[in-house]
Amino acid sequence: MRKQIVAGNWKMNNDLEASKFLVKKIIKKLKNNSLQNTRVIVAPTFVSLEKVVKKAKKTTIEVAAQNMHQAKSGAFTGEISAEMLKSVGVNMVILGHSERREYFCETDETLAEKVSTALKNNMEIIFCFGEVLEDRKSKNHFKVVESQVKNGLFHLEASAWGNIILAYEPVWAIGTGETASPEQAQEMHAFIRKIVADKYNKEVADNVSILYGGSVKPSNAKEIFSKEDVDGGLIGGAALNADDFIELVKSF
Ligand code: G3P
Repeated sequence: MRKQIVAGNWKMNNDLEASKFLVKKIIKKLKNNSLQNTRVIVAPTFVSLEKVVKKAKKTTIEVAAQNMHQAKSGAFTGEISAEMLKSVGVNMVILGHSERREYFCETDETLAEKVSTALKNNMEIIFCFGEVLEDRKSKNHFKVVESQVKNGLFHLEASAWGNIILAYEPVWAIGTGETASPEQAQEMHAFIRKIVADKYNKEVADNVSILYGGSVKPSNAKEIFSKEDVDGGLIGGAALNADDFIELVKSF
Protein backbone atom coordinates (compact mmCIF):
# COMPACT_ATOMS: atom_id res chain seq x y z
CA MET A 1 0.00 0.00 0.00
CA ARG A 2 1.65 3.22 -1.13
CA LYS A 3 1.77 6.13 1.29
CA GLN A 4 0.01 9.45 0.97
CA ILE A 5 2.56 12.24 1.26
CA VAL A 6 2.49 16.00 1.72
CA ALA A 7 5.94 17.52 1.29
CA GLY A 8 6.72 21.21 1.75
CA ASN A 9 9.51 22.59 -0.43
CA TRP A 10 10.45 25.83 1.31
CA LYS A 11 12.86 26.78 -1.52
CA MET A 12 15.05 29.79 -0.66
CA ASN A 13 12.61 31.12 1.91
CA ASN A 14 12.87 31.30 5.70
CA ASP A 15 16.05 32.06 7.54
CA LEU A 16 17.02 29.89 10.49
CA GLU A 17 14.68 31.58 12.96
CA ALA A 18 11.71 31.48 10.56
CA SER A 19 12.39 27.81 9.83
CA LYS A 20 12.50 26.88 13.49
CA PHE A 21 9.30 28.88 14.10
CA LEU A 22 7.46 27.33 11.14
CA VAL A 23 8.36 23.74 11.96
CA LYS A 24 7.44 24.33 15.62
CA LYS A 25 4.01 25.61 14.52
CA ILE A 26 3.52 22.62 12.19
CA ILE A 27 4.49 20.18 14.97
CA LYS A 28 2.06 21.87 17.38
CA LYS A 29 -0.81 21.72 14.87
CA LEU A 30 -0.06 18.11 13.97
CA LYS A 31 -0.03 17.00 17.62
CA ASN A 32 -3.74 16.16 17.78
CA ASN A 33 -3.95 14.72 14.28
CA SER A 34 -3.36 10.99 14.11
CA LEU A 35 -2.15 10.59 10.54
CA GLN A 36 -2.65 6.92 9.76
CA ASN A 37 -1.33 6.75 6.25
CA THR A 38 0.07 10.21 5.56
CA ARG A 39 3.74 11.15 5.60
CA VAL A 40 4.58 14.80 6.33
CA ILE A 41 7.87 16.10 4.95
CA VAL A 42 9.47 19.55 5.11
CA ALA A 43 12.43 20.66 2.99
CA PRO A 44 14.18 23.72 4.50
CA THR A 45 17.29 25.40 3.15
CA PHE A 46 20.70 23.93 3.92
CA VAL A 47 21.37 26.42 6.75
CA SER A 48 18.27 25.26 8.65
CA LEU A 49 18.46 21.51 8.07
CA GLU A 50 20.27 20.54 11.27
CA LYS A 51 18.06 22.67 13.52
CA VAL A 52 14.84 21.51 11.84
CA VAL A 53 15.95 17.87 12.12
CA LYS A 54 16.50 18.43 15.86
CA LYS A 55 13.09 20.11 16.24
CA ALA A 56 11.36 17.32 14.32
CA LYS A 57 12.98 14.55 16.39
CA LYS A 58 10.39 12.39 18.18
CA THR A 59 7.68 13.73 15.86
CA THR A 60 6.26 12.20 12.69
CA ILE A 61 7.69 15.00 10.56
CA GLU A 62 10.45 14.03 8.12
CA VAL A 63 13.10 16.38 6.77
CA ALA A 64 14.45 16.49 3.20
CA ALA A 65 17.19 18.53 1.55
CA GLN A 66 16.35 20.48 -1.59
CA ASN A 67 19.41 19.33 -3.51
CA MET A 68 22.80 17.62 -3.27
CA HIS A 69 25.87 17.11 -5.43
CA GLN A 70 26.60 13.75 -7.06
CA ALA A 71 30.28 13.66 -6.04
CA LYS A 72 31.45 12.20 -2.73
CA SER A 73 33.59 15.33 -2.12
CA GLY A 74 35.93 17.72 -3.96
CA ALA A 75 36.35 21.07 -5.65
CA PHE A 76 32.68 21.90 -6.16
CA THR A 77 32.29 25.37 -4.74
CA GLY A 78 28.96 25.98 -3.07
CA GLU A 79 27.84 22.38 -3.20
CA ILE A 80 26.81 19.88 -0.50
CA SER A 81 27.41 16.12 -0.60
CA ALA A 82 25.16 13.24 0.43
CA GLU A 83 27.48 12.41 3.33
CA MET A 84 27.27 15.97 4.61
CA LEU A 85 23.46 15.78 4.56
CA LYS A 86 23.51 12.45 6.39
CA SER A 87 25.91 13.92 8.97
CA VAL A 88 23.15 16.33 10.09
CA GLY A 89 20.50 13.62 10.12
CA VAL A 90 18.98 14.17 6.65
CA ASN A 91 18.16 10.97 4.75
CA MET A 92 15.93 12.34 2.01
CA VAL A 93 16.55 14.73 -0.89
CA ILE A 94 14.53 16.45 -3.60
CA LEU A 95 16.20 16.00 -7.01
CA GLY A 96 15.34 17.30 -10.46
CA HIS A 97 13.20 20.24 -9.41
CA SER A 98 12.38 22.36 -12.48
CA GLU A 99 14.14 25.33 -10.89
CA ARG A 100 17.32 23.25 -10.64
CA ARG A 101 16.91 22.11 -14.26
CA GLU A 102 16.21 25.64 -15.53
CA TYR A 103 18.37 27.97 -13.43
CA PHE A 104 21.25 25.57 -12.68
CA CYS A 105 21.17 23.65 -15.97
CA GLU A 106 20.84 20.24 -14.36
CA THR A 107 20.62 17.67 -17.17
CA ASP A 108 18.99 14.24 -17.15
CA GLU A 109 22.49 12.73 -17.02
CA THR A 110 23.51 14.80 -13.99
CA LEU A 111 20.27 13.88 -12.27
CA ALA A 112 20.77 10.17 -12.97
CA GLU A 113 24.17 10.46 -11.27
CA LYS A 114 22.63 12.32 -8.31
CA VAL A 115 19.98 9.60 -7.99
CA SER A 116 22.66 6.89 -7.93
CA THR A 117 24.72 8.76 -5.33
CA ALA A 118 21.69 9.34 -3.09
CA LEU A 119 20.74 5.65 -3.26
CA LYS A 120 24.34 4.58 -2.57
CA ASN A 121 24.00 6.64 0.62
CA ASN A 122 20.67 4.99 1.49
CA MET A 123 18.76 8.20 0.96
CA GLU A 124 15.15 8.46 -0.16
CA ILE A 125 14.55 10.62 -3.22
CA ILE A 126 11.67 12.87 -4.25
CA PHE A 127 12.34 12.96 -8.00
CA CYS A 128 10.74 15.89 -9.83
CA PHE A 129 9.83 16.27 -13.48
CA GLY A 130 7.28 18.14 -15.57
CA GLU A 131 6.66 19.87 -18.87
CA VAL A 132 6.73 23.58 -19.72
CA LEU A 133 3.70 25.31 -21.19
CA GLU A 134 4.98 25.09 -24.78
CA ASP A 135 5.28 21.31 -24.44
CA ARG A 136 1.68 21.05 -23.30
CA LYS A 137 0.40 23.43 -25.93
CA SER A 138 2.18 21.39 -28.62
CA LYS A 139 0.85 18.17 -27.03
CA ASN A 140 4.42 17.02 -26.32
CA HIS A 141 3.93 16.80 -22.56
CA PHE A 142 3.70 13.01 -22.32
CA LYS A 143 6.86 12.58 -24.41
CA VAL A 144 8.78 15.14 -22.32
CA VAL A 145 7.71 13.63 -19.00
CA GLU A 146 8.45 10.07 -20.17
CA SER A 147 11.93 11.14 -21.25
CA GLN A 148 12.68 12.84 -17.90
CA VAL A 149 11.50 9.84 -15.90
CA LYS A 150 13.31 7.29 -18.08
CA ASN A 151 16.60 9.24 -18.29
CA GLY A 152 16.61 10.01 -14.57
CA LEU A 153 15.45 6.73 -13.11
CA PHE A 154 15.25 3.80 -15.50
CA HIS A 155 18.88 2.85 -14.94
CA LEU A 156 17.79 1.63 -11.50
CA GLU A 157 17.07 -1.95 -10.49
CA ALA A 158 13.46 -2.62 -9.43
CA SER A 159 14.68 -3.11 -5.84
CA ALA A 160 15.85 0.54 -5.67
CA TRP A 161 12.34 1.88 -6.22
CA GLY A 162 11.44 1.47 -2.56
CA ASN A 163 13.47 4.67 -2.04
CA ILE A 164 11.84 6.66 -4.85
CA ILE A 165 8.96 9.12 -4.59
CA LEU A 166 7.88 10.70 -7.89
CA ALA A 167 6.72 14.32 -8.15
CA TYR A 168 4.99 15.54 -11.30
CA GLU A 169 5.23 19.33 -11.38
CA PRO A 170 4.01 20.95 -14.59
CA VAL A 171 6.33 23.96 -14.79
CA TRP A 172 3.48 26.21 -15.97
CA ALA A 173 1.68 25.53 -12.66
CA ILE A 174 4.59 26.25 -10.31
CA GLY A 175 4.13 29.49 -8.41
CA THR A 176 1.60 30.75 -10.95
CA GLY A 177 -1.71 30.00 -9.27
CA GLU A 178 -2.50 28.14 -12.51
CA THR A 179 -3.03 24.64 -11.09
CA ALA A 180 -3.38 21.59 -13.31
CA SER A 181 -6.97 20.35 -13.18
CA PRO A 182 -7.55 17.18 -11.15
CA GLU A 183 -8.24 15.42 -14.47
CA GLN A 184 -4.95 16.66 -16.00
CA ALA A 185 -3.06 15.52 -12.91
CA GLN A 186 -4.76 12.11 -12.88
CA GLU A 187 -4.15 11.60 -16.61
CA MET A 188 -0.41 12.29 -16.29
CA HIS A 189 -0.02 10.31 -13.06
CA ALA A 190 -1.74 7.29 -14.60
CA PHE A 191 0.56 7.61 -17.63
CA ILE A 192 3.64 7.72 -15.39
CA ARG A 193 2.48 4.72 -13.40
CA LYS A 194 1.98 2.80 -16.65
CA ILE A 195 5.48 3.55 -17.98
CA VAL A 196 6.93 2.37 -14.66
CA ALA A 197 4.83 -0.82 -14.84
CA ASP A 198 5.91 -1.41 -18.45
CA LYS A 199 9.60 -0.96 -17.55
CA TYR A 200 9.54 -2.95 -14.29
CA ASN A 201 6.31 -4.61 -13.12
CA LYS A 202 2.89 -3.85 -11.62
CA GLU A 203 4.12 -4.15 -8.03
CA VAL A 204 6.82 -1.48 -8.46
CA ALA A 205 4.33 0.80 -10.23
CA ASP A 206 1.57 0.30 -7.69
CA ASN A 207 3.89 0.91 -4.73
CA VAL A 208 5.50 4.16 -5.85
CA SER A 209 3.90 7.35 -4.51
CA ILE A 210 3.36 9.96 -7.22
CA LEU A 211 2.94 13.51 -5.89
CA TYR A 212 1.47 16.45 -7.77
CA GLY A 213 3.11 19.88 -7.42
CA GLY A 214 2.11 23.24 -8.85
CA SER A 215 -0.05 25.80 -7.03
CA VAL A 216 -1.63 23.31 -4.63
CA LYS A 217 -3.72 25.21 -2.07
CA PRO A 218 -6.26 24.25 0.61
CA SER A 219 -8.99 25.23 -1.89
CA ASN A 220 -7.95 22.71 -4.56
CA ALA A 221 -6.05 19.98 -2.69
CA LYS A 222 -8.97 17.73 -1.74
CA GLU A 223 -10.10 17.26 -5.33
CA ILE A 224 -6.60 16.73 -6.69
CA PHE A 225 -5.58 14.34 -3.90
CA SER A 226 -8.80 12.36 -4.36
CA LYS A 227 -7.67 11.14 -7.78
CA GLU A 228 -6.72 7.47 -7.94
CA ASP A 229 -3.11 7.95 -9.05
CA VAL A 230 -2.40 11.13 -7.08
CA ASP A 231 -0.76 10.22 -3.77
CA GLY A 232 -0.33 13.71 -2.36
CA GLY A 233 1.50 16.90 -3.13
CA LEU A 234 4.85 18.65 -3.32
CA ILE A 235 4.02 22.11 -2.04
CA GLY A 236 5.77 25.44 -2.46
CA GLY A 237 3.98 28.64 -1.45
CA ALA A 238 1.29 27.03 0.70
CA ALA A 239 3.98 25.18 2.70
CA LEU A 240 5.26 28.46 4.11
CA ASN A 241 2.08 28.94 6.15
CA ALA A 242 1.56 26.38 8.93
CA ASP A 243 -2.25 26.62 8.82
CA ASP A 244 -2.38 26.11 5.06
CA PHE A 245 0.16 23.28 5.19
CA ILE A 246 -1.84 21.41 7.85
CA GLU A 247 -4.99 21.91 5.79
CA LEU A 248 -3.20 20.15 2.92
CA VAL A 249 -2.08 17.34 5.22
CA LYS A 250 -5.72 16.81 6.17
CA SER A 251 -6.94 16.96 2.54
CA PHE A 252 -7.06 13.23 1.86
O1 G3P B 1 8.36 21.92 -5.34
C1 G3P B 1 7.07 22.42 -5.18
C2 G3P B 1 6.90 23.69 -5.90
O2 G3P B 1 7.61 23.74 -7.07
C3 G3P B 1 5.44 24.06 -6.12
O3 G3P B 1 5.37 25.43 -5.88
O4 G3P B 1 4.33 27.47 -5.00
O5 G3P B 1 3.34 26.26 -7.00
O6 G3P B 1 3.16 25.27 -4.70
P1 G3P B 1 3.96 26.15 -5.63
